[in-house]
Amino acid sequence: WSGLSMWNARLPSSLRLASAGSVDVTALRGPADAARVRRFTLTARPAVIKLASGRGVEALTFDGRSPGPPLRVRQGETVEVRLRSLLPDRGVTLHWHGYHVPNGEDGVPGLTQNAVREGGEFVYRFRADQPGSYWYHTHETPNRALQAGLFGMFTVDPVTPEGFDEPVALHTFGGALTVALADAPPADGLATRTLSPGTPVRLRVANTDNAPHTLGVSGVPYRIAAVDGLPVTGRILRDERAQLAAGGRYDLVFTMPSRPVLMSAGAAGLLLTPGVGAAPAPSAGPLIDITRYGSGGTEAPRRFDRSYTWVLDRLIALRGGVPRLSHTVNGQVWPRVAPALVKQGEWIRFTVVNRGGEPHPMHPHGHHVLVLSRDGVKAAPIWMDSFDVGPGEVWEVALRAGNPGVWLAHCHELTHAAEGMTLHLAYD
Ligand code: C2O
Ligand code: CU
Repeated sequence: WSGLSMWNARLPSSLRLASAGSVDVTALRGPADAARVRRFTLTARPAVIKLASGRGVEALTFDGRSPGPPLRVRQGETVEVRLRSLLPDRGVTLHWHGYHVPNGEDGVPGLTQNAVREGGEFVYRFRADQPGSYWYHTHETPNRALQAGLFGMFTVDPVTPEGFDEPVALHTFGGALTVALADAPPADGLATRTLSPGTPVRLRVANTDNAPHTLGVSGVPYRIAAVDGLPVTGRILRDERAQLAAGGRYDLVFTMPSRPVLMSAGAAGLLLTPGVGAAPAPSAGPLIDITRYGSGGTEAPRRFDRSYTWVLDRLIALRGGVPRLSHTVNGQVWPRVAPALVKQGEWIRFTVVNRGGEPHPMHPHGHHVLVLSRDGVKAAPIWMDSFDVGPGEVWEVALRAGNPGVWLAHCHELTHAAEGMTLHLAYD
């Protein structure tokens, strides 16, 4: 995964940059001109960031910050982000995790663009027509560079946000799980904010780590109002917790009571206080199953145009010509995993089987999938872009082919992806 063309070098020629069968990836770009344009510039550079405790961590940053500057736009605007690089030793791109950008804006080096090298730049443009909670991150050696800090939050608001409405990143810096809000250094411990009772609260929590985190809210009944950016209708939770897949987002919604509230994930947390009262204990209630929690309001399709099975495992497979223990899809490592071919307008069913002993948070680029069932139990159903297939589990998901191009789908435990648990979704 090193060098300019990590995805390109070993690709079958039919999938190389700018020529994917009949699809010209680099032509699939966002609008060239538009009325309401929101412009941002992000400069990738190394920096030492300070955690809330004062501890310094060597990081890779956008504009000297990690998480990078929060990008927040209004639905209907056109987003223009100029990425510049001052990274001496590696390339960088911006991938819009969960957001359905045109394929040429997807930020996959060697597939949709070349990585930006030191002194270079790339301009991303797309319409913000999909409201919700998303995030951006580099896709060049992301198993190292994203974890080292090259990521930030991206939010599209349908209306003016009210109350305390904040993206919150759960990210491990220097071995410590932190809670990072937009306007403060990552808190390795408790972040605290004072809010008056009655304030509407929406915490847009993103798991930017490689492993799942279990989170919950204590001190007030709450709802998960959106999963992976898309609204769900689900019941009120009281002290219950939910597991958030690597790459996934939950919008946690409640009204600030007259006593403190704690959103916690392990030892990290966000304490919201009206200024009086003691912090509640971290929630310790039962885990809900997100696939049965709420509904995205979509009927599951009854028939499918094609079906694919992905068996996820850890096997000895050839990597760079050498047999090595690798994370595999259908017994192969990327780029030898057969691409899933799709056609515009089709419904595709994927059966994802985890034969290994670790969770695999699967993430298709450019699309959400509709979860149909988990281990034979029917799902709500619910749309997700990052779904945790646990050890031994079988998930059935459906994808509606509506965003032409050549896309990656991979495990968001990014060391697994780097070892081969990656494939292409290719429109023909
Ligand atoms: Cu956040 Cu290819 O992923
Ligand atoms: Cu994995």
